[in-house]
Amino acid sequence: MTKGGRKPLIAGNWKMHNNHFEALALTQQLAFRLTAKDYDAVDVVVLPPFTSLRSVQTLVQGDKLRLRYGAQDISPHADGAYTGDVSGRMLAKLGCGFVLAGHSERRHYHGEDDALVGAKVRAIVANEMAPVLCVGEPLSVRRGDEYLEYCLRQLDAGTDGLSAGQASGMIVAYEPIWAIGTGEVAAPEDAQEVCAAIRQRVSGRHGPEVGAAVRILYGGSVKPDNMPGIMAQPDIDGALVGGASLDYEGFVRICRYRETYA
Ligand code: 13P
Repeated sequence: MTKGGRKPLIAGNWKMHNNHFEALALTQQLAFRLTAKDYDAVDVVVLPPFTSLRSVQTLVQGDKLRLRYGAQDISPHADGAYTGDVSGRMLAKLGCGFVLAGHSERRHYHGEDDALVGAKVRAIVANEMAPVLCVGEPLSVRRGDEYLEYCLRQLDAGTDGLSAGQASGMIVAYEPIWAIGTGEVAAPEDAQEVCAAIRQRVSGRHGPEVGAAVRILYGGSVKPDNMPGIMAQPDIDGALVGGASLDYEGFVRICRYRETYA
C-alpha cells in the first residue's frame, strides 16, 4: 500500500495528556495490539509529552518494539540559559526519531512565528531527527481563496535553509486549524488539494526526487471511520492524530485503515 515508494506514517500526538504512568500503560497496550504485519505496512509513531519520553523509551528499547516515538517541541538553541526549554541534543539522546514543529497550538498559544518554526526545524535536522512540520490555515482563510498560498508560505519558511537531503527526510503535516479537535474532518479531496500543492512546492524548491520522497500527512479529527477515505488520496501518506490517538483500540484501527479499503 505504498504510494510512490513512500511508507505510510501514522503519528499519535498525545498533546498535554498522559503522565508517565499513563504513557507506559498506553504504550504497552499498543505493543500488545500492533503486529509485525502492522509495522510492515505503516510506520507507527507516538509523540508523548516531554515528561513521558524516558518511560516510552525504556519500553520501546527494552522490549525492542518497532513502535517509534518523538517529541512535540524543541528549543531552537543548541544549549544555554533557556529556562524550561529542551534541546535537540537531549531529545536525540532519548532516542527520539521525530519532533513536531509549527503545530498550530504552539503558533497560537505560544506566539511561534514562521521564523521560529524554521529555526526549530533546523535544530531538529541538526540532531538527525525527522521534523514533522505542521502547516494549516484558520477557517477565515479557508473561506477565502488564498488558503493554498497561506500553507505554502508556512512551508517555505519552515524549510528555509534545508539541504535537499534534509528536506527529503522531513515530514509535512497539513492540519487545517478548523478541523483540529472539532470533529469536522476536511473532505478528502480538499485535503488532497493542499497536500498535492505541498508536494509540488517541495519539488519546485528541492527537486522532483525530494518531492516524490517527502511524506505528507493529514491531521484534524482523524478517526477510524474517516481514515480510509483520507488514505485513498494519492498525495496523503499518513495521519497526525490527536484525540483519537489516546484510545489504543481506535488508534490501532486507524493504523489498520488498509483493512477497510474497498
Ligand atoms: P485531533 O485529531 O484531536 O483533531 O487533533 C489533530 C492534531 O492537532 C494533531 O496534531
